Amino acid sequence: MKIKKCLFPVAGYGTRFLPATKAIPKEMLPIVTKPLIQYGVEEAIKAGIKDMAFVTGRNKRAIEDHFDINYELEDKISDTDKRSLLEGTSQIIKECSFVYKRQIEMLGLGHAILVSQPLIGNEPFAVILPDDLCLGSDLGVIGQMKKLYDEYQCSIVAIEEVPREHAYRYGVIAGKEESKGIFRISDMVEKPSAEAAPSNLAIIGRYVLTPDIFSILEETPSGKNGELQITDALLAQAKKGRVIGYRFEGQRFDCGSIDGFMGATNFVYSEQH
Ligand code: UTP
Repeated sequence: MKIKKCLFPVAGYGTRFLPATKAIPKEMLPIVTKPLIQYGVEEAIKAGIKDMAFVTGRNKRAIEDHFDINYELEDKISDTDKRSLLEGTSQIIKECSFVYKRQIEMLGLGHAILVSQPLIGNEPFAVILPDDLCLGSDLGVIGQMKKLYDEYQCSIVAIEEVPREHAYRYGVIAGKEESKGIFRISDMVEKPSAEAAPSNLAIIGRYVLTPDIFSILEETPSGKNGELQITDALLAQAKKGRVIGYRFEGQRFDCGSIDGFMGATNFVYSEQH
């Protein structure tokens, strides 16, 4: 089965960016002039995906409005040079479908993915966490992973080498490198200490998931921080040899952190000027 849908779990509170995220979704913060969520959707489009699914929450209405027409504004700028500034966004709206479901209680990323089941159905799907901004590759990270899925037909997580003292921020994998940059995962630990981390390979915000993940998530107890962790559910698949870790091409910026956000802003700005 081909991957046709991309899920964006965007219900989190974005507490690291307060006060900016008090009334505005983190995903609407701009890197130069484009909100983070649009970069994520553009990456999915680059991968040939047109069906976008969002798990949202309270205070996230601006995301739905962004992927909709704003008649008054568009009429106002229709005969001016500024029209070109909206062309990219208008094209996305024309090309893609957007569906939304609310996560009523924010019980973790695994829970957000479980909530998305009615939007996804019984097929493999891509997941993009838009605060991990990935740039600098023609296919995009999800495009690279979609290609890999055609070959491996199992769940795939994007991984990156991180300093061990940063392991506590990520899910960290153990596995055997089967070919260059492709690991068969045997273990994964959510947010371990530097000493407990099984490697320096951390999972970043790009996944391809097979639909059995939903029934596994239903059975998975809450983990670290009382949240339902996607890492715990993926571990059940990994124990059967059904998860690949993929060291992607391109550059990732953790825009959920201030340093990453500034790095992405400087990178995009210097590309444009
Ligand atoms: P984060 O761990 O980055 O949390 O979530 P957050 O709430 O967005 O940000 P901070 O840490 O408070 O600053 C990783 C991804 O999972 C989504 C988030 O929206 C983000 O895309 N998420 C997390 C949900 O959709 N629901 C949840 O219950 C938790």
